[in-house]
Parts: sequence; C-alpha cells; structure tokens
Amino acid sequence: MEKVCKTTDVAKAAMKGFIVKEKQILVANIDGQFFAVEALCPHMNGYLPSGKIENGEAICPVHRARYDVKTGKLVKNVDMLVKMATGHSAKDLKVYTVKVEGGDVFIDI
Ligand code: FES
Repeated sequence: MEKVCKTTDVAKAAMKGFIVKEKQILVANIDGQFFAVEALCPHMNGYLPSGKIENGEAICPVHRARYDVKTGKLVKNVDMLVKMATGHSAKDLKVYTVKVEGGDVFIDI
C-alpha cells in the first residue's frame, strides 16, 4: 500500500488529484469514506479532478462523461456528436483499493 494523502486533504463531497508512483490518482471523499480511481478520463485524458463532483459522480471537464467514483463505472458516456468527432467513447475507470489508517489514505498500487 502507498500513501496518497491525509484524510484532511480531501473535504467531504469533494475530490482531488495526486501523483503516486508516477500515476495520476483521484481521491474522493463521499460521506467520510474515501475512494480512489485513475484521474485521467479514459476518453481523451481529461483531468477529472478539475471537473465537478455531483452525487458521487465525477464529471469530466472536457466532454462531460460521468463516472461513479466508488465503482469507477462510466455512468454517462460522451454524446454521439463528440463520439463521432473524436472517434472514441469513454469507458470505466481503473479503481484502487483504499485503506485509511491513522488519518492517512493509502491505495493498493
Ligand atoms: S476527455 Fe473526458 S469526456 Fe472527453
């Protein structure tokens, strides 16, 4: 397990980006529980921590794909015009197992 941040670094109902072992990681705090997923949108590498989080869903700031930060599941794909223009659709995020100990957040990476 690798330390990512302190629990106090990510406010409730918020998300933040960190770099762990040269990987971009998003940590979200949902009702005091911490979740970690990859921070780069699988569509075209939008930086998800710069987007919004609503009801536990991270919204990509680039083309607005939505992801459940607890499961990494793609909740809403890019719209058809974006898919046609970019030649890709989005897919689920990689999820990391999280452990909280002594006020620190660790992930299995
Ligand atoms: S880069 Fe995230 S939806 Fe396109």
